[in-house]
Amino acid sequence: MSDLHNRHVYQPNPEFAKNARIKNMDEYHALQNKAIEDYEGFWADAAKEKIDWIEPFTNVMDESNFPFVKWFDGGKLNVSYQCIDRHLKTRGEKTAILFEGDRGDVVKITYNELSRNVNKFANLLKEDFGVKKGDRVVVYMPMIPEAAYAMLACARIGAIHSIVFGGFSSESLKDRIEDAQAKLVITADGAYRKEKPYLLKPVVDAALEGETPVEKVLVVERNNEEVTWVEGRDCSYHELIKDKSDVCAPEVMESEDPLFLLYTSGSTGKPKGVQHNSAGYILWAQMTTEWVFDVKEEDVFWCTADVGWITGHTYIVYGPLAMGATTVMFEGVITYPDAGRPWKMVQDHKINQFYTAPTAIRVLHKMGDHEPSNYDTSSLKVLGTVGEPIDPPAWQWYYNEVGQGKCAIVDTYWQTETGGHVISPLPGATPIKPACATLPLPGIMAEIIDEKGNTPELGEKGLLCITRPWPAMIRGVWGDPERFVKAYFGDVTKNGKPVYFTGDGAVYDKDGYITVTGRTDDVINVSGHRMGTAEVEAAILKHENVAEVAVVGKPHNLKGEGIFAYIVLKEGEVTNEAKEINEIIKKEIGSIALCDDMVFIPGLPKTRSGKIMRRILRSIAKCEAITQDISTLEDPSVVAKIEAIVAK
Ligand code: PRX
Repeated sequence: MSDLHNRHVYQPNPEFAKNARIKNMDEYHALQNKAIEDYEGFWADAAKEKIDWIEPFTNVMDESNFPFVKWFDGGKLNVSYQCIDRHLKTRGEKTAILFEGDRGDVVKITYNELSRNVNKFANLLKEDFGVKKGDRVVVYMPMIPEAAYAMLACARIGAIHSIVFGGFSSESLKDRIEDAQAKLVITADGAYRKEKPYLLKPVVDAALEGETPVEKVLVVERNNEEVTWVEGRDCSYHELIKDKSDVCAPEVMESEDPLFLLYTSGSTGKPKGVQHNSAGYILWAQMTTEWVFDVKEEDVFWCTADVGWITGHTYIVYGPLAMGATTVMFEGVITYPDAGRPWKMVQDHKINQFYTAPTAIRVLHKMGDHEPSNYDTSSLKVLGTVGEPIDPPAWQWYYNEVGQGKCAIVDTYWQTETGGHVISPLPGATPIKPACATLPLPGIMAEIIDEKGNTPELGEKGLLCITRPWPAMIRGVWGDPERFVKAYFGDVTKNGKPVYFTGDGAVYDKDGYITVTGRTDDVINVSGHRMGTAEVEAAILKHENVAEVAVVGKPHNLKGEGIFAYIVLKEGEVTNEAKEINEIIKKEIGSIALCDDMVFIPGLPKTRSGKIMRRILRSIAKCEAITQDISTLEDPSVVAKIEAIVAK
């Protein structure tokens, strides 16, 4: 970390800064100081200004039952109203969603059309399936506008959506359906990828085999491929939507009524259902879209994430629509038909803000160093990255080749649990440094501390924490309040009180900028997707000949991190196990969790009390020399044996 303090500083583009919402660091500090001096006043003003309340709130924040915190108590609102209805008078004919299909088909959906589609969808959910406020609805959809309609229709009637990323397997889908006790699944027959149809419906069919809380399945026809139809359970969206009224009064929701669940991996056990509630979440989704991307009325904003991840929730659907922006939704693969696809889309749609993951940046760079210059990308103003630490070479390419040295790069740090960005540059104000998330956003009390709340020495790694609750903070782990407290508020205290620990390590530089160094727990970040080592291990253990397994992350030049599995077999020589284990992982989790490396070893390095020494395994995976003391191991000789096998 010696060059941490000497990174080149890039000033904001002065032309851009002139019209930015936050124009310089004085404005940033003024906002942050206001939040420090009058925390509740800061948030109350924001909530009054940004949200169209049905009834105003009476209390700003209640932390008497910390970490179970309430924001904007007494307030009533509806998130779909915030995202649609309130724009209709002034922006009815403006494009809300600009959809580009895999095969280049483009559909522009205006706010008026979005309103009609969402109202009809909401009526369908109520009339045909009896979905009510508080019911859970699982959404397993491709990247098509109906996915957004489904989310907003749930919000309109007060149902809680739980989107499961379309790459997850039937077993993962089944677990999430059961945990949330969902009565309805919304899916599609399939969609298109690389000009070929693929199917989603069979995954849903498999997930619903055996006992299930699901009564009905709503199927959106996207590619009209033949799929199995279960009479009495499966319903055609296009049939049912035809005769629905396009008027559905929004349900009056309390500020703290749940909006959605989104399952994410933790360091132990099964994925957790992260719960976000209505007012705090939508407020922060909107504020951060406005501040961090500085989206203007006439701008076109493209976030390349999938709606199945938090980035898709907050920055494809809720944030942009809450502020009345035009948001791009893309069905396809950004490297297909070639690495020029995203830059062609920027050119075709005059996209102003482009937001993607470091993995995508690395792949696009590798496939086409000068590809962006083959297109007119002059509309671009802000480039964003999210999901994993970005490496300086990828950052430089993004800045120089894609942004032509004139666009701000916003390295946005956040998590499923934070609801929206928490640490990020502001494009018109913050001088940026390569691969650095810079400073907490106004209102966010993010700090690097140790377990006892002390600030580490300059340049030393510490734990990235948020020391005061913020409106978009995770409200709970569905059905498991103890896990919520333990997972996020169990490790770090400040002034004797527990604080929210992100699970990430980070370091300050001499200017107080925060650089996130990655997870400190057993979570790996594969292509910006969170994967619990425990989950992958549980899948591998399902193989009948596997006795023990330990999974660690290993640096990967495209994916950020890859999955490295150490496996001990029960008996016999290795035959087809690697192939069979990969099949099991595909079935249990999905292809995103396939191992990059799998080695079969005689035993795991364990302490005498039986604890696996993962640090040793991480070092071996990286081919680093072992510096730890191995004399405390039950069998120190196993280390050399593993090293020899990995070196082969
Ligand atoms: O380790 C951090 C990493 O992604 C984790 C959150 O993953 P998830 O909940 O799936 O949300 C991803 C999209 C918000 C964090 O704990 N992470 C996210 N953004 C960054 C990052 N690491 C470094 N720099 C970032 N900008």
